[in-house]
Amino acid sequence: MEKQTMNLTRFLIEEQRKYPSASGIFTELFSEIALAAKIISREVNKAGLVDILGYTGSKNVTGDEVKKLDIFANNTLKHILCRGGNAIGLASEEEEDVVQCESGKYLVVFDPLDGSSNIDVNVSIGTIFGIYNKMDDFVDKKQFRRPGRELVAAGYIIYGSSTMFVYSTGTGVHGFTLDPSVGEFILSHKNIRIPEKGKIFSINMGNYKKWDKNLQDYIDYITEEDKETKRPYSLRYIGSLVADFHRNLLYGGIFLYPADKKNPSGKLRLLYEAQPLAYIVEQAGGYASDGKTPILDKIPSEIHERTPLFIGSKENVKELEKFLNR
Ligand code: AHG
Ligand code: MN
Ligand code: MN
Repeated sequence: MEKQTMNLTRFLIEEQRKYPSASGIFTELFSEIALAAKIISREVNKAGLVDILGYTGSKNVTGDEVKKLDIFANNTLKHILCRGGNAIGLASEEEEDVVQCESGKYLVVFDPLDGSSNIDVNVSIGTIFGIYNKMDDFVDKKQFRRPGRELVAAGYIIYGSSTMFVYSTGTGVHGFTLDPSVGEFILSHKNIRIPEKGKIFSINMGNYKKWDKNLQDYIDYITEEDKETKRPYSLRYIGSLVADFHRNLLYGGIFLYPADKKNPSGKLRLLYEAQPLAYIVEQAGGYASDGKTPILDKIPSEIHERTPLFIGSKENVKELEKFLNR
């Protein structure tokens, strides 16, 4: 029975009791993010109805609006966090500049809806967030130029067959599954650890011709037949970073979004996609790099800076780095 009744708020409070330094504000901030997640989950799950039945839900929602779920998710997070009094500033994929809020101890970075091109085909999408201690009450872009090692918490929500809230505050990674009948996130995955090595690789093979030779050699190596080293690996690529990351976190494996001729710095953003997931994966015993430097050591020069991202089981990422740095 204990496991069924352990919800996110209670778990955060119990975790907090173990670390007196953590203040109650942290729990409040997490509860705000969880509330936003429930609201976004409701809209994401309604999206199909809008498409299929023309069911509007509200008079101005049309097919095009569904694609604007990114904007809906962004506004939901922005309004709840900025009014909550715990976040003094925000940086979002959907906001050109940083957002100054009234008061608070924390800065929150987020990708409000990741994988949004998949909304119309009912494929899992997600929200990614990271939390920093503020440096100053006046929030400018400078406050976000810091390494991911300074994160005090990070997490993601995946809107899939169920809605899951996965986070870490530096003492392991824990997963909660939304029970919509009571509107609570219930503890379902305590202390998630990623396997040291996995047999899954996630990459957009359509870009193969655009990669540098060392990366092509790595992909050729892991897709060769060799029983001894359990090759070939299996390719699994959903095209939603959160969904691909979540599967590899549980099963083991490596996700790759390299730089290529079209995207010389890669496609994914350092501040609100790579760093929060790198924080999570390291807390789960995995590793993330840009091919040379650990993601958590990189400092974004501007809030929408892109980075190559190689993330997952430590042995897989290290094996890749050997190829890339030959
Ligand atoms: P977003 O929807 O926030 O812009 O992110 C989309 C990203 C990420 O979710 C995914 O891994 C990647 O785009 C897929 O890119 P390709 O379609 O180029 O493979
Ligand atoms: Mn994204
Ligand atoms: Mn996005």
